[in-house]
Amino acid sequence: MSNELTTLSNIDVRDIADGTLRIVDPETPGLTAEAFFASQCWTVGVIGLGYVGLPLAATAMRAGLRCIGFDASAAVVDRLADGRSHVGDVSNGQLRDALDAGLELTTSPARLRHADALLLCVPSPLGRNRQPDMSYIEAAAATVADVVTPGTLVVLESTTYPGTTEDLLLPAATATGLELDRDVFVAFSPERVDPGNARGVGEIPKVVGGVSHTSGTVATAAYRRLVPSVHLVSSARAAEMAKLLENTYRAVNIGLINEIAQLSHQLGINVWEVVEAAATKPFGFQPFYPGPGVGGHCIPLDPQFLAWRAREAKFATRFIDLAEQVNTTMPDYTAARIADLLNAAGKPIHRSRFLVVGVAYKPNVADDRESPAWDVLANLAARGADLVIHDPVVGAERVRVRGFRAVDALDDVDGYDIAVVLTDHDAVDLAGVAERVPIVFDTRGAFRRRGIVADHVATL
Ligand SMILES: NC(=O)c1ccc[n+]([C@@H]2O[C@H](COP(=O)([O-])OP(=O)(O)OC[C@H]3O[C@@H](n4cnc5c(N)ncnc54)[C@H](O)[C@@H]3O)[C@@H](O)[C@H]2O)c1
Repeated sequence: MSNELTTLSNIDVRDIADGTLRIVDPETPGLTAEAFFASQCWTVGVIGLGYVGLPLAATAMRAGLRCIGFDASAAVVDRLADGRSHVGDVSNGQLRDALDAGLELTTSPARLRHADALLLCVPSPLGRNRQPDMSYIEAAAATVADVVTPGTLVVLESTTYPGTTEDLLLPAATATGLELDRDVFVAFSPERVDPGNARGVGEIPKVVGGVSHTSGTVATAAYRRLVPSVHLVSSARAAEMAKLLENTYRAVNIGLINEIAQLSHQLGINVWEVVEAAATKPFGFQPFYPGPGVGGHCIPLDPQFLAWRAREAKFATRFIDLAEQVNTTMPDYTAARIADLLNAAGKPIHRSRFLVVGVAYKPNVADDRESPAWDVLANLAARGADLVIHDPVVGAERVRVRGFRAVDALDDVDGYDIAVVLTDHDAVDLAGVAERVPIVFDTRGAFRRRGIVADHVATL
């Protein structure tokens, strides 16, 4: 796999984070970049220490590499340096292990000059009109242009539209005159973390695509030090598209099951029983579950990157648009079902006392970004509902910041007319909810999954 073109130039001596000197070329003349990343103890520079970047930095330290974690936010860096993790998938203990092993945290981009690989993990949200907001990736690319030195691998991990790595990162990496595939290597490798689930970054295969063949092979050698399996594709665009396919696939299938849920209800069929039954087929069916909508930083957003890029190419993305239409109307559908339930008991939404369980977008995570729960709550609040929220994972404080009343424990308040389960956190005592509230609406199939059967529990 070695290739003369990949021979590192101009990096005979590099000053590394601990101030010592590492001599590369004189001792190992002709060392290729691919061999360097495969065999040496190199330094990872992580740009952006959030849900994606922090686990990646911890993984790099566990792999025995050096790591410099850079974040533009002093609050983030100070908190982490204090041993307090803000990311559920990295415990305080794991963070402390990484710090003890030498993880460097900084708000100074200049420190990144000592990194051999720069991995960009900055946000890529949608703007006000649901068009991609590239400002964070652009800012991180500008940092790359400032700090990149000969011999550096630059990889974008943020989710984005196909073409971003070539359009934004390649010009930044080569801005100072460094030559692609001789001095600098540029690739895309999407992050696939699964917040709230036990699988760590180091256990999930990585897709890698370079802006050139050589860049792809160099990035592959680097990631093989971090994860058990790397799948190299022919281009950065293919890797960018693969990430969008993964999440679009989920969005479309969730849209389908949300539509099936509405139809099942109309036909008097329990959709949860139907999915359970279909899932017994050992081939050709993957279960997806209905819910009050889609949330988080990926499923509601990522298909829109593809739809936006498609519009530029004058291509209509009908499946994406349809799934978006079904999924974004689920919060209102949920509120309408709640109104029906209360109506059947002779009550209006107005002034009814609600216990709302869960605002996180998925179980067992403290992440409420884009959560459909906020849309359901806004709908109910607009109709005059008296709302009390319980989410022991997100925490009462965060709920109060959003302007809602919150309780830390279920028995802090009583006398509810209805309970609505919007997130199925393991920590919530659902049997206790069913005992103390006369009407329950379960949007997650949570009671069924836990084997709690009660006539007053209705499901989506
Ligand atoms: N959260 C997930 O589950 C998940 C999964 C897969 C992919 N992704 C993608 O990964 C990317 C990062 O997402 P995240 O959830 O980790 O975001 P996040 O908001 O948790 O963290 C991003 C961090 O980057 C920092 N930052 C912003 N601009 C910066 C800059 N110019 N330089 C340095 N630091 C900067 C922020 O201060 C923040 O700490 C996004 O593109 C997202 O779509 C996220």
